[in-house]
Amino acid sequence: MIDSDSFKKTFLSELNSASSVSELQQIRVKYLGKKGLLTLQLKDLPTLAAEERRSFGKSINELKEYVEAGITSRESVLSKADLRKRLVSESIDVTLPGKYTPVGREHPINKVLREITDIFVRMGFSIEEGPEVELDYYNFEALNFPREHPARDMQDTFFVTEDVILRTHTSPVQIRVMEKIKPPLRFIAPGKVYRCDADVSHTPMFHQVEGFMVDTDISFSDLKGVLETFIHRIFSPETPVRFRPSFFPFTEPSAEVDIGCIFCKGKGCQVCKGTGWLEILGAGMVNPHVFEMVGYDPETYTGFAFGMGVERITMLKYSIDDIRLFFENDIRFLRQF
Ligand code: PHE
Repeated sequence: MIDSDSFKKTFLSELNSASSVSELQQIRVKYLGKKGLLTLQLKDLPTLAAEERRSFGKSINELKEYVEAGITSRESVLSKADLRKRLVSESIDVTLPGKYTPVGREHPINKVLREITDIFVRMGFSIEEGPEVELDYYNFEALNFPREHPARDMQDTFFVTEDVILRTHTSPVQIRVMEKIKPPLRFIAPGKVYRCDADVSHTPMFHQVEGFMVDTDISFSDLKGVLETFIHRIFSPETPVRFRPSFFPFTEPSAEVDIGCIFCKGKGCQVCKGTGWLEILGAGMVNPHVFEMVGYDPETYTGFAFGMGVERITMLKYSIDDIRLFFENDIRFLRQF
């Protein structure tokens, strides 16, 4: 026989010391499982007299129900406690600072290069490219610089071999495109160029944008119109523009293009060295010798060319006085654009 009272006491004390749903599960197995305490009691049933059997069976069933009810009610308490524990341990403190993800931005040179490109693309210019490691032929020879021409020295060339150099300007793209395509042509050629030179306004690598247009009736006034439109868009519509006679072997006539000093508004200051003007690009009408070099008939075709330094334009646009800042990768500088 089983002592109901002491059985219940033991059970209750175990039940109350269970601190999790999984411990409860162990208690359930211990009491009600196939080999559980109550199940084992039933083994004695056949050996009992009919009278005893009934009352014994009844008391075992009562105990079973008692155990089940106890476990169920304790379970509801413990599962709530489990949930509370999880909510606390898995909670997120939304008041903590978030993880900082640095966001990059466009380099000022690329930004201005993109603005320059956009302006010319809107005027119908396409975009061409050429190699940075260039043949002497394209960089000088075909552009009408003869072998011993002093302008070759002026360019401070980086030599790879006697005939292979780092291009000193984007003008060789003129020749490469003309060898490939017949007129009419209208393109710009942006890219890196190299000159052995370094100070506050020169770096050994910098960017140029070449402009080139050839057709049967291109005149100097077309050049003026295109460049004035460009300058008024990249700086401001009020910017004064001046063409000054100059010399390049591959253009004739040649000009240097100045804008009214944007710092002193033309009054004269340190930046414009008192002249009121700032030089921003070189230009001219394509020299007939250059057309002959690529097999274009100079009697049929005329054209213009221009070339500008992207760093120079960026420095003027943003009042930057040292070109080296562009290449030092100081985020405090680069963030400002
Ligand atoms: N290539 C010249 C330079 O780098 C600029 C230029 C381009 C001048 C086209 C005239 C025409 O100085």
